[in-house]
Amino acid sequence: MWKKWFSKKVNDENLENLYNTLDQDRIPKHIAIIMDGNGRWAQKRGMPRTFGHHAGAETLRNIVRAASDIGVQVLTTYAFSTENWKRPRDEVNLLMKLISDYLDSEIEEMNQNNVRMRFIGKLAELPQGVQDKIVESQQRTAGNTGLILNLAINYGGRAEVVHAVQIIAQKVLQGELTPDQIDVDLINRHLYTAGLPDPDLLIRPSGDLRLSNFLLWQSAYTELWLTDINWPDFTPELLVEAIKDFQKRERRFGGLKKK
Ligand code: IPE
Ligand code: IPE
Ligand code: MG
Repeated sequence: MWKKWFSKKVNDENLENLYNTLDQDRIPKHIAIIMDGNGRWAQKRGMPRTFGHHAGAETLRNIVRAASDIGVQVLTTYAFSTENWKRPRDEVNLLMKLISDYLDSEIEEMNQNNVRMRFIGKLAELPQGVQDKIVESQQRTAGNTGLILNLAINYGGRAEVVHAVQIIAQKVLQGELTPDQIDVDLINRHLYTAGLPDPDLLIRPSGDLRLSNFLLWQSAYTELWLTDINWPDFTPELLVEAIKDFQKRERRFGGLKKK
């Protein structure tokens, strides 16, 4: 027992030293992660895809802790897309149960680490049990002032823009807004991510080179970091590697290189 505790402690110290090697002035404020590759990870081991989803939830625990320790302000993680309903019913049910169990088991730890939970997506379409956990997680962590963990569940970038456009159109109809008042800032304020900065860094594990409908509007100038490693094998060390790479990049936002 003490051995386990001891090795964990040593490990934590090593990680802390690693985090200290980052340029503290250029920590990305907002990191977004497409938690992909769970199924492939499991299948490689001759296990059912669901085994990979369980392993993926464990990885999320570690990465939330790491992001919080590193000093990231917002971590948005893609857990279930508006298109993932196309999967076999059993897999969808398992994912819903896993999300609900994850929220249930993490609230204490979130509170201990001062993490505030937020959710984006078409939440009203989720099973009632998941919606209840979402409300509870939001309420019980509302007073925390550290990392914002923003979970994207039944999220689609297109659905998000459609939703924003519908609300804006309604306001125009009611005479609260005129069409010429619609600008980037107004649209930002009607997205699920209202009030959050755009992601600085987007990480996609598992080797696929696409956004799969994640944060389409918000990622206009986000730096991308892709790896072949599947999400269950993603580690705090890899997160540091991604951030180090980010810190070497020059972001121009359409302008010119600084002299
Ligand atoms: C990501 O892993 C989890 C969800 C999409 C819910 P996948 O289930 O997509 O795993 P792969 O991409 O098939 O390996
Ligand atoms: C994106 O992964 C969604 C999540 C990780 C939640 P998918 O596995 O659904 O994406 P595609 O189908 O490979 O594009
Ligand atoms: Mg996938």
